[in-house]
Amino acid sequence: MEKFEVLISEEQIKQRLKELGKEIKEFYNDEEIYAVCVLKGASIFYADLVRELSDLDVRFDFLACSSYGESTESSGVVKLTKDLDESVEGRNVLLIEDIVDTGYTLSYISKILKDRNPKSFSICTLLDKPSRRKVDVDVRFNGFEIEDKFVIGYGFDWNQKYRQLPYISVVR
Ligand code: IMP
Ligand code: MG
Repeated sequence: MEKFEVLISEEQIKQRLKELGKEIKEFYNDEEIYAVCVLKGASIFYADLVRELSDLDVRFDFLACSSYGESTESSGVVKLTKDLDESVEGRNVLLIEDIVDTGYTLSYISKILKDRNPKSFSICTLLDKPSRRKVDVDVRFNGFEIEDKFVIGYGFDWNQKYRQLPYISVVR
């Protein structure tokens, strides 16, 4: 497989996740977290982030959604393809997603989960592309802001490939 130019290195990710872990611990102050992973893109970020929360009570759950359109562009039409296993009513939901780009995906998921009466609802993303935003999303924790570039690696795919790269790279 070809080598890609590194945008955010393994070391930078590791360092930032430690900081995010601290921010999240302070915010929840010993309360239990219902950590929801948005498949598939957030899977690697999720797995690394929850290990920075090892002294909190954390429950796992997963959902998946699809957005139709070109491969590098969200169409705005989002569909839930896998729902959570348990009810989030009365729980502190921490939604963990790979990126907030146009915002369509997160605003769609937020609406669905907030309607289920969680005790609290917060979003944590690894990346934010603010210049691409179409709808407003309240992201409480974010790893890195990036420019309008299509990234791969560390969970991010290009036609379902390259998710396994341990760093984040840019597709030219
Ligand atoms: P949004 O709905 O436009 O905010 O973005 C939703 C989804 O688009 C994300 O969950 C990613 O799966 C995907 N996405 C957005 N930007 C990128 C990128 O640069 N690389 C890979 N996937 C991306
Ligand atoms: Mg995604």
